[in-house]
Amino acid sequence: MSARSLDGTATATRIRAELADRIARFTAAAGRPPALGIVLAGDDPASQIYVSNKLRTAGEAGCRAELFRLPADASLDDTLAVVARLNADEAFDGILVQSPLPKGMGRDAEQRVFDAVSPAKDVDGFHAQNVGLLVQKRARLVACTPSGVMQLLAREGIALAGKRAVVIGRSDIVGKPMALLLLHQDATVTICHSRTPDVAALASEADILVAAVGRPAYVTPAYVKPGATVIDVGINRVDDAALVANWYPEGHPRRLQFEKKRTLVIGDVYPAVWAVAGAVTPVPGGVGPLTIAMLLANTVTAAEARAGLLSAD
Ligand code: GUN
Repeated sequence: MSARSLDGTATATRIRAELADRIARFTAAAGRPPALGIVLAGDDPASQIYVSNKLRTAGEAGCRAELFRLPADASLDDTLAVVARLNADEAFDGILVQSPLPKGMGRDAEQRVFDAVSPAKDVDGFHAQNVGLLVQKRARLVACTPSGVMQLLAREGIALAGKRAVVIGRSDIVGKPMALLLLHQDATVTICHSRTPDVAALASEADILVAAVGRPAYVTPAYVKPGATVIDVGINRVDDAALVANWYPEGHPRRLQFEKKRTLVIGDVYPAVWAVAGAVTPVPGGVGPLTIAMLLANTVTAAEARAGLLSAD
């Protein structure tokens, strides 16, 4: 048996198409397109790729997206100063500070920067005020990756009410907001993390299993109930030929791809899980494109709310 592939690329395309009308209406009403400022500090290669994808997608959708770069040795104060400028600039509706920030900025730098972003422009949904609103099921701006997963589940007709959901990973960016969103759709939710004993036993009770661990092929078939929906949030770059040979048989397209490039992007889900699960998000082409689509949706929502085009709710 092979699981149904949950096509995030197609769903993201649909979400972006649905936004086109709102973007056109905002642009006509405001005399300018919705505008997003992206702050990128340092030169983490993965972050550079994510940010250039965000800039390109926003531009293609008819939004204005501008990059603000800081060197790897920039200070936390430098970053806070850019955020303060964008907060004050009426021409920007959304602000995103790419994570992770350079280590030299200190341990709590990320939280301090996220808390410095004006909640009305917080298109990542990371500000404490927006997180609090999410807990109470009344947030307008919600973290992009988990809200993209919810869009995918809804549009694929995967029922959540009364189902068991297990989220592996408890990050502020994915695990915690993911668990809250599933709870708000009446799933019974368990969060597993690095101190959870026997994660496989808990995970294999899940009707919906979300893997947000950041470890390649961590979720093996022993973690998966037959027929379950498995959402793979992982994006892990792997350069080890022995690992790839372990996951894919000789001649498999993914193994051939590795042999050509000597590197491969792997999710948190072991490939053999496809033989057990009912539906799986592929990597790439699953959750990744949805994150960017939801960033656009949040930018448009922030723009509309700032311009008074949304009714209070
Ligand atoms: N790094 C990885 N995912 C994200 C995200 O959703 N937002 C930001 N700002 N940084 C990230």
